Amino acid sequence: MVHILVVHYSQTGQLTRVLRSFLGPLAINPDIRIDWRELRPLPSYAFPWRFLSFFDVFPESVYQDPPPIEPCGIAPDAHYDLVVLGYQVWFLSPSLPIVAFLQSPEAKVLRDRPVITVVGCRNMWVRAHQTMLGLLHDLGARLVDNVVLTDEGPLWATFITTPWWLLTGNKGPLMGILPEAGISASAIKRSERFGHALNAALPRLGKTDEGPFLRGLQAATVQPLTLLAERIGYRSFRIWGRILRAVGKPGSGARKPVLVIYVVFLVTMILTVLPFTATILAIKARCSRKVQDEATALELPSGSGTERLALYDRSL
Ligand SMILES: Cc1cc2nc3c(=O)[nH]c(=O)nc-3n(C[C@H](O)[C@H](O)[C@H](O)COP(=O)(O)O)c2cc1C
Repeated sequence: MVHILVVHYSQTGQLTRVLRSFLGPLAINPDIRIDWRELRPLPSYAFPWRFLSFFDVFPESVYQDPPPIEPCGIAPDAHYDLVVLGYQVWFLSPSLPIVAFLQSPEAKVLRDRPVITVVGCRNMWVRAHQTMLGLLHDLGARLVDNVVLTDEGPLWATFITTPWWLLTGNKGPLMGILPEAGISASAIKRSERFGHALNAALPRLGKTDEGPFLRGLQAATVQPLTLLAERIGYRSFRIWGRILRAVGKPGSGARKPVLVIYVVFLVTMILTVLPFTATILAIKARCSRKVQDEATALELPSGSGTERLALYDRSL
């Protein structure tokens, strides 16, 4: 019997649907037991978000300083053959609920265990993945695969549609022009391919050639342009995050005026500097071999190759 632990959190249910689809082929295998553990932050985050509450989580997200979560009932002596961690990205960082779990005593269950991370986000996840690598390393866990599902809309459009969705609950399509926000239903359905491949690879668990199991299935694609944009964004988040954390605690009255100044700064930058910077970054991303190689390296361990799709993607 193979025991798999799945730890997840999702505000809209999007990431949970991805995980259910991914793990569907394993759930019907009688030789596999899957323990699902949903993370419950204390207090819970309301959806849709209120405008200032949304921005108020950014300093703690960037500095990995989460509020507590309810214990999720993992026995201290539990043994799992594989752990699947589902997380979304908040401000270029792993979301606070998954960080709270990884900092909790229950995360000791990951020590020396193979881990698959499953990310569902807009389209900027690379910096969060790097942070996740550090968190897993500190816990003594082994990352064997990383699967990333993102919004397929153009980068510029998701810049509008994702915040609109998160702040109003309305996924669109907006004004009949902008595409629906979020991961498409067909991409969620197609994530079954990872489950089929994992089912076939399970005998390798715990062996020396363990992982990656999900190569050749277009698991994680890094766009050089987003890689460069994330670097700039993250640097700015660290600076503003430090200022906001010095001013007051999350939700405190002292933070609000500075948060408003930050939002005004952010919107001004987006409307003035961003178009110019994006053009420069696009040229650099296209011309720099170094950036392209870095992007390819960050797609590991699972990669963006497609050579095994014909074997496991039943929608083809
Ligand atoms: C506070 C907040 C910050 C976010 N920041 C990012 C981000 O930096 N990059 C990204 O690709 N998506 C970002 N998103 C989108 C989420 O990663 C995710 O796609 C969305 O919240 C839906 O996830 P869920 O319903 O499964 O929780 C953010 C969402 C929230 C709520």
